[in-house]
Order: sequence, then structure tokens, then C-alpha cells
Amino acid sequence: MSIDSLERTSTLDPAEVAAHYDDLDKFYRALWGEHVHHGLFLTRGMSPEEATRKLIGVVAAEAKVQPGSTVCDVGCGYGGTSRVLAREYGASVTGLTISAAQHAYACAVDPGTENPRYLLCDWLHNDLEPDSFDIVIAIESSEHMPDLAAFFDQAARVLRPGGRLVVCAWLTRDALRFWEQRMLIGPICREGRLRGMETAGEYQRLGRESRLIPISFGDVSRQVKATWPICARRVLGGLIRDPANRRFLFRDGGPNRIFALTLFRIWLAYEVGAMRYGVLTYEKL
Ligand SMILES: C[S@@+](CC[C@H](N)C(=O)[O-])C[C@H]1O[C@@H](n2cnc3c(N)ncnc32)[C@H](O)[C@@H]1O
Repeated sequence: MSIDSLERTSTLDPAEVAAHYDDLDKFYRALWGEHVHHGLFLTRGMSPEEATRKLIGVVAAEAKVQPGSTVCDVGCGYGGTSRVLAREYGASVTGLTISAAQHAYACAVDPGTENPRYLLCDWLHNDLEPDSFDIVIAIESSEHMPDLAAFFDQAARVLRPGGRLVVCAWLTRDALRFWEQRMLIGPICREGRLRGMETAGEYQRLGRESRLIPISFGDVSRQVKATWPICARRVLGGLIRDPANRRFLFRDGGPNRIFALTLFRIWLAYEVGAMRYGVLTYEKL
């Protein structure tokens, strides 16, 4: 476990995470659209939209989503992935987010439908039935949970025996240099309201402790890191074009505005290899 995650395991308040996403709601939608996750750029010239869909495709394949599969999408954001799995794969999907702004958006996309159903709740304190899902997925949400072991415990609780968990996670390289922790990973976690970042080995160990057997791990850092220069271009373009964006990001008392600039740190963290991106698949015993 990284030094930073040890320091922050018990101090990150889920209310802060919710406030982060509520405060940056418009900014995130302008920057990312409905999918608040990396793209998987498998070929040169692949568009961000295609790359976003590629990552969802990998998650669906790892999870073995089939028509009728019951899927829990932990930290579903605006519900983009939940809708793809429901509409295109025929799965029955429940998405959870801790952000009221995201929940309201997701519910408004297709009012009246029960698939996906969206819950506004904290994953670490959910009321879902035990053994009730074939599949649990968590695309870039586990990093926000104050207690990673409790994240895995909940996944093991709601999955049926033999069910699969697929996690897309922001990770660190095994041995971080002091300056990488100090200048990159620490600030990225603080500014992005992340508990901390762990290594792939730590994610596998904690899964195993919750009776979730790691069955594969893919390090796709090289394929996802192109996400960040694209984000940087979009942010700079937005700031130059629209004074309202400048006022929003640089206004006094906006506790989350600094995160807009963190993306340059993330870009650098990938370039020096301090940050890694993993797709981890587990099966419940
Ligand atoms: C980076 S976004 C990813 C969103 C979505 N998975 C996607 O790929 O578009 C992180 C998500 O995790 C959710 N989240 C963070 N902590 C949570 C918690 N304790 N319970 C439920 N959702 C949580 C946030 O509300 C947000 O939707």
C-alpha cells in the first residue's frame, strides 16, 4: 500500500466525494460527456468516443455479460456504462452513485424505465440483497472509497457464488520514488478526492481476503494514457473560448476547481510511469 493511502484510508469522507462530483457536474459533462472514465486507445487515430466504448467492451467481456445477466455498476456516474450494458447487451443493470447531480442526470435520461435502475447511495452502506448479482463492475470508483477492504467485502456480499467482479482502477507502480509520491500521487489523490492509490498486487491481495479470487489483471496504462492530452486540450480550449468557464474554475470558494489543473499532473504521472491503469477480474468462491 502506498504511503498516501495509509494516511488517507480513514480520513476521506464520502460526503466530500459527493460534493466533488456535484460541484464539478457541468465541468465533467463538458469534458467527458456521459462517460467519466479513460478511453482504451488500441490504434492510432482512434477517436475518444471509440476508445471509451472499447474500455466498456473489455469490461463486458471480462465480466462475461450476457442477455439477462444481473449487473451492479458501482459508482455509475451519469449511467453511461449502465445504459450500454442494458441496451446493447440485454443485461439487467443497477447503477449506484453517491452524487445527487449524477443521479438526477441518469434518471432524467430515460424517465420511466426500470432498466437500468439508478440508486443514490453509498456503496459501503448499501441495502442490496446478498448473492443477488451475477456481475459487479466498478469503473474508476473504488479509488474514492475510504476503505478498500470494505469495497471488496460489499462486492463479495452481493455477488452470487461464481459471479464476477471487474474493477478498472487507478494504480501506482510497485516502488514509487519519493518525489513521485510527494509531487504527483499525493496531490492527485487529495485534489481528486481519492483515498489513495494502491499497486495491482494490493488490489489482488485485498480481493482474495474477501473470497474474491483474482483471475486476470491487464495493465493497459499505455493504451489509456492518451486520454489526458485530449482532456488538457479540451480544458484549455474551453477556458480560451468561454469566459464563463474561466469564472467557474477560478472563482473564490470553489473547493474543487483546482482539480481541473490536476489533469496535467495525471498526464505527467503516466509519462514517468508512477501511475498505472489496471483492469482486474475476480471470481467469487
Ligand atoms: C470517475 S467517476 C466514474 C463514473 C462511471 N463509472 C463512469 O465510468 O462513467 C467515479 C464515480 O464513483 C462514484 N462513487 C464514489 N464513491 C462512491 C461511493 N462510496 N458509493 C457509490 N458511488 C461512489 C461517484 O459518485 C462517481 O459516480
